[in-house]
Amino acid sequence: MASTLRLKGKVAIITGGASGIGEATARLFASQGAIVVIADIQDSLGTSVANSISPPGQCTYLHCDVRDELQVAAAVDQTIQTHSRLDIMFSNAGILGPLTSILDLNMSDLDNLLAIHVRGMAAAIKHAGRAMVAAGIRGSIICTASVAAAVAGFAPVAYTIAKHGVLGLVKAAAGELGEKGVRVNCVSPFGVATPLSCGIGMMTAGLVEKLTCEAAVLKGAVLRAADIAAAALFLASDDSAFVSGQNIVVDGAVSVSNALFSKTAKVVMGDVMPTIHDF
Ligand SMILES: NC(=O)c1ccc[n+]([C@@H]2O[C@H](COP(=O)([O-])OP(=O)(O)OC[C@H]3O[C@@H](n4cnc5c(N)ncnc54)[C@H](O)[C@@H]3O)[C@@H](O)[C@H]2O)c1
Repeated sequence: MASTLRLKGKVAIITGGASGIGEATARLFASQGAIVVIADIQDSLGTSVANSISPPGQCTYLHCDVRDELQVAAAVDQTIQTHSRLDIMFSNAGILGPLTSILDLNMSDLDNLLAIHVRGMAAAIKHAGRAMVAAGIRGSIICTASVAAAVAGFAPVAYTIAKHGVLGLVKAAAGELGEKGVRVNCVSPFGVATPLSCGIGMMTAGLVEKLTCEAAVLKGAVLRAADIAAAALFLASDDSAFVSGQNIVVDGAVSVSNALFSKTAKVVMGDVMPTIHDF
C-alpha cells in the first residue's frame, strides 16, 4: 500500500527549530515521515526537542548561528553528508529585536536583526538552493516572514523592515530558482504565542492569543504554532508542487481596519512599541 505520509523520504533542515513555530514544524514534519535536522543556537533546548521526537534519529540537532554564512553552509553540508540529500529548507530562525520607534532606532540593533532575518535567510536559500540544484532535487525552500511584511503598524519598525526584506528575498529567489525546479515560498504568521511574541511587554501566552483572536476577522479559532506548521507542511510537500514565489498569510483575515492588536498592544505596553497608526 502506498504511504500516506506527506514527507516520506524527504530530508529537512529547520532553522530556529528549537522553539515555537520551528519546534512545532519539526514535530509535524517528522510525524509526516521527514528526517529533520534542527539548526539553532539554543543547544540544550534544541537537543532535547530533537531527542523527544521518535523514533530515535528521526530528528537531530546541530548548532548553527544563521548570522554566520559559514555555519549555514556547514549545516547544509553536514546534513547531506549524514542523510545523502536535502529536500526542504525551512528558514525560520528569528528574533523580535528592538521595540523602539524609528526615532530612537539603534543602528547596531537594526544590523543584528537584518543579519538574522534577511542575511540569514539569504544564506539559507543560497546554500540549500546550491545543494538542491547540484543534486537535481526539486526542493522546497520556505522562509518565515510575518503579517508585518504585509501590513505596517503591527510590529516594531526594525522587525517590519526585516520581514519586508524577507518577502523581497523570497520573490527574487523564486524567480531565479524556479528554472532549476526549486520552489521558494514564505509563510507569514499573525500573532502566535511563542517566547518571541511573549517578549513584547512580557505578555502571557493567553494574552497574545486573545489579542490575535480579537484582531482576526475569522472567529471561533485560536492561532497556534501548529497552524503555521501546517502551512509549512503544505509548502514543503508535493501537494504544492506548482506553488512558488507565494506568501501564505496565516492571519484569520486580519486587516488594518480591524487592527485591535496594535491598539490593545499599545495599551498593554504603554509607549514601548509605538504604532504607526493611531486608530
Ligand atoms: N510568534 C509570532 O507571533 C510570529 C509572528 C510572525 C512571524 N514570526 C516569525 O516566526 C519565526 C519563529 O519565531 P517564533 O515565534 O517561533 O519564536 P521563538 O523565539 O519561539 O523561536 C525562534 C527560534 O529562532 C532561534 N534563533 C534566534 N536567533 C538565531 C540565530 N542567530 N541563529 C539560529 N537560530 C536563531 C531561537 O533560538 C529560537 O529557537 C521567526 O522568524 C519570527 O520572526 C513569529
